[in-house]
Amino acid sequence: MKITVVGAGNVGATCADACARNELANEVILVDIKEGLAEGKALDIWETSPITLYDTRTIGSTNDYTKTAGSDVVVITSGLPRKPGMSRDDLINTNAKIVKSVTENVIAHSPEAIIIVVSNPLDVMCYTAFLTTQKKNKNKVMGMAGILDTARYRSFLAEALNCSPKDIQAVLMGGHGDTMVPLPRYTTVSGIPVTELIEKDKLDAIIERTKKGGGELVNLMGTSAWYAPGTAAAQMVEAIVRDQKRIFPCCAWLEGEYGLNDIYLGVPVKLGKEGIEEIIELDLNEEEKELVNQSADHVKEVMKVLDNMELF
Ligand code: LAC
Repeated sequence: MKITVVGAGNVGATCADACARNELANEVILVDIKEGLAEGKALDIWETSPITLYDTRTIGSTNDYTKTAGSDVVVITSGLPRKPGMSRDDLINTNAKIVKSVTENVIAHSPEAIIIVVSNPLDVMCYTAFLTTQKKNKNKVMGMAGILDTARYRSFLAEALNCSPKDIQAVLMGGHGDTMVPLPRYTTVSGIPVTELIEKDKLDAIIERTKKGGGELVNLMGTSAWYAPGTAAAQMVEAIVRDQKRIFPCCAWLEGEYGLNDIYLGVPVKLGKEGIEEIIELDLNEEEKELVNQSADHVKEVMKVLDNMELF
């Protein structure tokens, strides 16, 4: 197995580190356009191997995609992060061009790779990568957002309930933005519906905090988060390379599911060696459907901005 992570910023390096540490492949290739950055971070990660005891080789490359040839999975983290006051959508002009060019390079050397996009605005950057592949295989181009957003939601719940985050299961749908839709009806603590364990106003406050969870970190740090985003992307890589058939909320191309067409949106999926092996359709109630539709409308607006850039 061979994994490539494009973008050796904080998210990409965290993801490469998690892939190596968990021995998800024989080789992890880290690529960046900034001279020496990927080589340096890859070397630093490799130097942890005698300490944490793994043998995955981590190799860095300054924009030389020949080193990525034959990758099974490619994670794209390239692009600018947010600064305080920015929404993810404000990044589209810069990041769409970057994601298009990175995807071209990736598929030129690894035409069969499964691509996991992490760059923002996430849903529309998945669409950008998918268009760049000429919509070859929708199961092989997906985005990481739902694992991160549910992780934030689950960590806040664990704190509020004073219980282990290991025991909290949750589903979250919609776009990776303030319109995301955490679903309390599908949230349990070891099988116990969360609504039986927490008052409604506290749960509502956690849902609101989750929706703005990325922004909370941007405000604290002056740039966007990396530990949880990078680790979440590595969890998707693991499900694919180990053919685990895990069920996660991921950003997937919809063709009629949930009554939505031709849009990338967060939905529960089964992840295995073929990529997205199944999109799971929940029996949403009217209120939940309405929230998902509102989120889809928002993503469609940002897709229009991409269309108007005439990159394709
Ligand atoms: C966040 C970025 C990665 O939510 O979108 O932190």
